Amino acid sequence: METSIKNIGVFTSGGDAPGMNAAIRSVVRTCAYHNIKCTGIYRGYEGMIKGDFIELGPRSVNNIINKGGTFLQSARCLEFKTPEGRKIAYENITKVGIDALVVIGGDGSFTGAEIFHKEYGIPCMGIPGTIDNDIYGTSNTIGYDTALNTVVEAIDKIRDTASSHNRLFFVEVMGRDVGYIALNAGIGAGAEEILIPEENIGKDHLLKSLERSSSSGKHSSIIIVAEGDKTGKNIFELKDYVEKRHPNYDIRVSVLGHMQRGGAPSCFDRVLASRSGVKAVESLLEGKTGLMVGINDNKLTLTPLEQAIKGSTEIDKELLRVNNIMSI
Ligand code: ADP
Ligand code: F6P
Repeated sequence: METSIKNIGVFTSGGDAPGMNAAIRSVVRTCAYHNIKCTGIYRGYEGMIKGDFIELGPRSVNNIINKGGTFLQSARCLEFKTPEGRKIAYENITKVGIDALVVIGGDGSFTGAEIFHKEYGIPCMGIPGTIDNDIYGTSNTIGYDTALNTVVEAIDKIRDTASSHNRLFFVEVMGRDVGYIALNAGIGAGAEEILIPEENIGKDHLLKSLERSSSSGKHSSIIIVAEGDKTGKNIFELKDYVEKRHPNYDIRVSVLGHMQRGGAPSCFDRVLASRSGVKAVESLLEGKTGLMVGINDNKLTLTPLEQAIKGSTEIDKELLRVNNIMSI
């Protein structure tokens, strides 16, 4: 491949996600394969500003494909949002010879890369890494599949205790803006009702749904609530609302929290991360820039970062209907 690029900087930024290590590994090894240098940048944009770099070769990324989190670590860096911060970052990366970047993160991280690319002309490629699956231009983000499996496993366990005690459980899952995890893990775990930010079903409907469940002979139920759902003020207020109207229900709340972001990546996420890293590096070497690698119909695609940032994802409302039928 004809290229003037000699040293690709790779970093993870924003919320971490399982499979980020596999993506770093892929970027590093693809660079080695094409005989160019690869520099790891610690803690995202913060590492650029602090000058915290490490030269990475194919053996630096041994035994990480199966590890959750990110060995380069991640951070949210306010200083990079200022022109002064980005100037320091640019000076630092040029000092070590980095002449292109691969950013693994969410839309905030892509916004930073897009601005940096426009200001300093440094070639950038994005790889979507977030459990939320809320990035336009890809059907799957790295970490989403793993998080789904983690959530389903957790809800299966909650189901055991819920059915032993004839209890109603409200389970909160991550997704501050979108309901992908709630919807798909909810169907996978057999939830009675799924509450997501995209569709406010209203408290009355929730009550009716619970009444339908108990009158159809169910003794325990699981309601999945996405973090960003607006049906109630929060999951505890929802519980109180139902409890007041049905004091006979024995209700518990379980907030799954950050365990959803950890753990060994699923095979799907490892493969996606490996394919995405190759595509990101080779696209840079072909002279492409300002793009995000995505997957659609199992084919890798490239979407302008600008579109990936601004475009909004849409959930498939048919999934809500499927769940409604399944919970009869
Ligand atoms: P995510 O990438 O998961 O969406 P954030 O929204 O927290 O996470 O963004 C990660 C980092 O990207 C921020 O801490 C900041 O350093 C950088 N970033 C986000 N928005 C901007 C912006 N408008 N300008 C410059 N940098 C930004
Ligand atoms: O963006 C991923 C995400 O897991 C969201 O679903 C959640 O709201 C947020 O990160 C939590 O972020 P923090 O790590 O800052 O608590």
